[in-house]
Amino acid sequence: MTTTPTPAELLDRWDRQQSAYINHRDARFDALLSTLALSVGPRARVLDLACGPGSLTAAAARRLPQATITAVDMDPVLLAIARDTVGLDPRVTVLDADLTEPTWADDLDLGSLDAVVSSTALHWLHPGDLTRLYLTLAEGLPEGAVFMDADHLGYDPISNPTLADVARRDDELTQERTFADGADPWDAWWVAAESRPEYAEAVAERQRRWAGKQAPPPKVTLGFHLEALRSAGFRETGTVWQHLDDHVVFARR
Ligand SMILES: C[S@@+](CC[C@H](N)C(=O)[O-])C[C@H]1O[C@@H](n2cnc3c(N)ncnc32)[C@H](O)[C@@H]1O
Repeated sequence: MTTTPTPAELLDRWDRQQSAYINHRDARFDALLSTLALSVGPRARVLDLACGPGSLTAAAARRLPQATITAVDMDPVLLAIARDTVGLDPRVTVLDADLTEPTWADDLDLGSLDAVVSSTALHWLHPGDLTRLYLTLAEGLPEGAVFMDADHLGYDPISNPTLADVARRDDELTQERTFADGADPWDAWWVAAESRPEYAEAVAERQRRWAGKQAPPPKVTLGFHLEALRSAGFRETGTVWQHLDDHVVFARR
């Protein structure tokens, strides 16, 4: 008899699935959270953008036991898992928001935050939406607040053909190894998540929301992110971690 996976099992399987697509994912979280702890301190009020089922939020809550974290995403199934797992922690609030909507931050008090973080998500935004997001953050965050994004920021294959090829082959090897260790590929993970009868409504809403939204936007480089953050009004920018084209970008308001 097959049993439907619990929300906690789905979150755990999500982490393993994502580790197949991101070599050294744990090290990348660790670099981001160490920098967070050292730059804004243990009582940080944090916003996790495009939180998915809550991986980075959960890691932040473990690392910073006095922090409070708001986690936002637009995917109803991933939000349901986040609410049913890390959202049970009283320090965590999980909210529905589409980062491409001009109103996405209306219910959030950006001025009260110490940090905004994100992982493996902002590459889903078109460069225009990303630039608007950085402007919203720069205008709304208080001076001293930090922004950190852990993401794949692809090499430009024209100016960096060797590195672009090495990064591609490193991704292939990471997937081979991690799937051989039993991680779910993306589609299999979704089959498992959608098998939970409790999520049937969220699954239907997910199909409605993503219809016509799946085309990947043009890729932008690390240089684009750093320049867009500086132009938006962040006074300090840099990187705190890198493995090939995977970076943790840092900016301070
Ligand atoms: C690969 S997942 C990463 C989730 C999580 N941050 C992690 O590291 O495991 C990408 C996430 O971006 C979210 N996302 C993409 N576009 C979005 C948008 N316009 N507004 C809010 N969330 C978005 C997706 O719903 C998904 O949860």
